[in-house]
Amino acid sequence: MTILVTGAAGFIGHHVSIALRGRGERVIGVDSLTDFYEVRLKHDRLACLEGDARFVFHKGDVADAVFTAQVAAAYPEITAVIHLAAQPGVRPGNVPPQTYVRTNLLGHLNILELVRALRGCRHLVYASSSSVYGSSSRLPYREDDRADAPMSLYAATKRSDELISHAYRGQLDVPQTGLRFFTVYGPWGRPDMAYFRFARKILKKQPITLFDGGRLKRDFTYIDDIVAGILGCLDHPPTESPDGRTPSHVLNIGNHDTQPVIALVASLENALGQRAVIVDVPAPVTEVSETFADISALMALTGFAPRTKLVDGIERFVAWFERWEGVERTALRR
Ligand SMILES: NC(=O)c1ccc[n+]([C@@H]2O[C@H](COP(=O)([O-])OP(=O)(O)OC[C@H]3O[C@@H](n4cnc5c(N)ncnc54)[C@H](O)[C@@H]3O)[C@@H](O)[C@H]2O)c1
Repeated sequence: MTILVTGAAGFIGHHVSIALRGRGERVIGVDSLTDFYEVRLKHDRLACLEGDARFVFHKGDVADAVFTAQVAAAYPEITAVIHLAAQPGVRPGNVPPQTYVRTNLLGHLNILELVRALRGCRHLVYASSSSVYGSSSRLPYREDDRADAPMSLYAATKRSDELISHAYRGQLDVPQTGLRFFTVYGPWGRPDMAYFRFARKILKKQPITLFDGGRLKRDFTYIDDIVAGILGCLDHPPTESPDGRTPSHVLNIGNHDTQPVIALVASLENALGQRAVIVDVPAPVTEVSETFADISALMALTGFAPRTKLVDGIERFVAWFERWEGVERTALRR
């Protein structure tokens, strides 16, 4: 099979591309290498994949319809698409709002058009997010819960992607699966996410800011479990839809084990051998108090069974992080 992976230089895209290559698939990787976090990490991820004839990389912008049409024309043999490229982050920081809309909406539309232009594409798997649930108080979150009150522009774009995919069923003969990821962490992870930022600060003995004493809870999901779930989905395109049209469904992909952020901090402290200096502040109203995935649909479809406890996953993250930060320190000294 030839599989297009967008966001291949990103955290999840890197791991998915490696796993696909390990299965003997040919991977066409696409990424624009944005500077949302350090670009060097994206280059280092790509370096793990390059030099293998089964991996081809193209730098390009999924929001550029000319580029995505060129990809479709150059690789008509693509059999499946895993669309992960996005502007992530529920707290936008310095990201202009237009970037969310351009990348996440226009980019998604262009990928749908790319899939339409291909002859033999059998499945489009794309990234959604647990943030689509907003501050839903019904736990665990189920796919049929309401998702019409997003608390960030990012969440609104991800929910919009699901709706655009649904509406596109009339134009597209290819089944689609949208995956609602729950707080993914692990080696080669994202420096903007709490576990990575906290690790850096704890090592430097700088204070970390915790909302509500770290009582907010998140369904932290280890990257290897996420990759197993994505590949399981890839192999199980939906075959039925209630109205008989081309199926397009959304599935939660989480650990089904919600943990307080203070437990994340304790795991980091243990793995780093260093106590955190904690600054406790009230949670902003935009922070949801808990995320928790009902994963029974994904389990029934693919046999998905997340097996990594937070404490073990953080230990593996820290082992990688210390090596990678060590490389960074050596580079700085030069
Ligand atoms: N990591 C999580 O916890 C999490 C949670 C929910 C949803 N998601 C979603 O999963 C997907 C992958 O997330 P990730 O954590 O690997 O993020 P990431 O930022 O590491 O990867 C996304 C990649 O997309 C690339 N990209 C951004 N804009 C682009 C554009 N216009 N054209 C081409 N490439 C572009 C970036 O350079 C980056 O390498 C995203 O869609 C994200 O929204 C992730």
